[in-house]
Amino acid sequence: MSFRTIEWRDNTVIMIDQTRLPGEEIYNTYADYKDVAEAIRGMVIRGAPAIGVAAAMGIALGAREIIADTHESFFRQLENVCDVMARTRPTAVNLFWGIERMKRVAEANRDKKLDQIREILKNEAIRIEEEDQTICRNIGKWGATLIPAGATVLTHCNAGGLATAGYGTALGVIRAAHEAGKNIQVFADETRPWLQGARLTAWELMKEGIPTTLISDNMAGFFMQRGEITCCVVGADRIAANGDTANKIGTYSVAVLARENNIPFYVAAPVSTLDLSLSDGSRIPIEERPASEVTHIRGANIAPENIKVRNPSFDVTPARYISAIITENGIVSGDYCAGLRKIAGR
Ligand code: MRU
Repeated sequence: MSFRTIEWRDNTVIMIDQTRLPGEEIYNTYADYKDVAEAIRGMVIRGAPAIGVAAAMGIALGAREIIADTHESFFRQLENVCDVMARTRPTAVNLFWGIERMKRVAEANRDKKLDQIREILKNEAIRIEEEDQTICRNIGKWGATLIPAGATVLTHCNAGGLATAGYGTALGVIRAAHEAGKNIQVFADETRPWLQGARLTAWELMKEGIPTTLISDNMAGFFMQRGEITCCVVGADRIAANGDTANKIGTYSVAVLARENNIPFYVAAPVSTLDLSLSDGSRIPIEERPASEVTHIRGANIAPENIKVRNPSFDVTPARYISAIITENGIVSGDYCAGLRKIAGR
């Protein structure tokens, strides 16, 4: 990959600034955990697995910033750092998964010296980043088996290298199919309002030399009806125990259109995106983002002043529309309740 989404270097966290792509390829350096939290909230880094990594690295940074004489004081302040990270974005469960993993590691090493705990937390955050790259490659390997040669694959939002530590989930499947010489092409939904598809997916795939066509979201049905789409592959922010899947707003519409047109609709996500504590998708918290994301494009106002706006950032696709869920441990279809528990080893 010709870019790095997030990296720990010299006790700082470095991220490619996704708010500036595709125009500018700029890397920001963070030395303060509160700035990492702000970067997550402000979409400098976004995408479920990537914000899980960012939260973990933010906690490792925060642990270095804590001044404490006693373990009690250190752990109290660490809890506060974790709370700041948890308040950034509510929907992607990977964020909370990353926070919990860091907390568990800190707790398991409570008897060590504070500097040792800080070092252990740093190493854990780096490990989460490295593991995510391997996980995405495995998702790619499994997913590529579902993509026929010569396929046209429609994707929504950005579930690529930028949304993970590298390689991507939905785009991991696409990359793996491309690398296997399947001669595929991609239709990328632009993904209003934030334009992850136009700004990020199109940029990533073009860099990779994967043939890509950009369409606006309302064109997906047109191309499906004409028989121009072979299958859909999207990422996920949270998957409930029954397979209901929260992903970028508009994903549900794509899934319904795919069913209407007899087109397979696949979700690709790591096991860390499963939230088996929720029996179905109705209880997944849905983030609502600022109205300005709808009324403005790149600073230009496109709506009347004071118009009432809603801006839910995610929707939930019922499991019945999902042909299969692709994880690093294998592919689940049919009975999601049993299949997801098994694949998660729970
Ligand atoms: O608001 P975003 O850009 O963080 O939303 C991202 C998505 O919805 C992705 O599809 C999802 O996180 C999967 S990323 C591998």
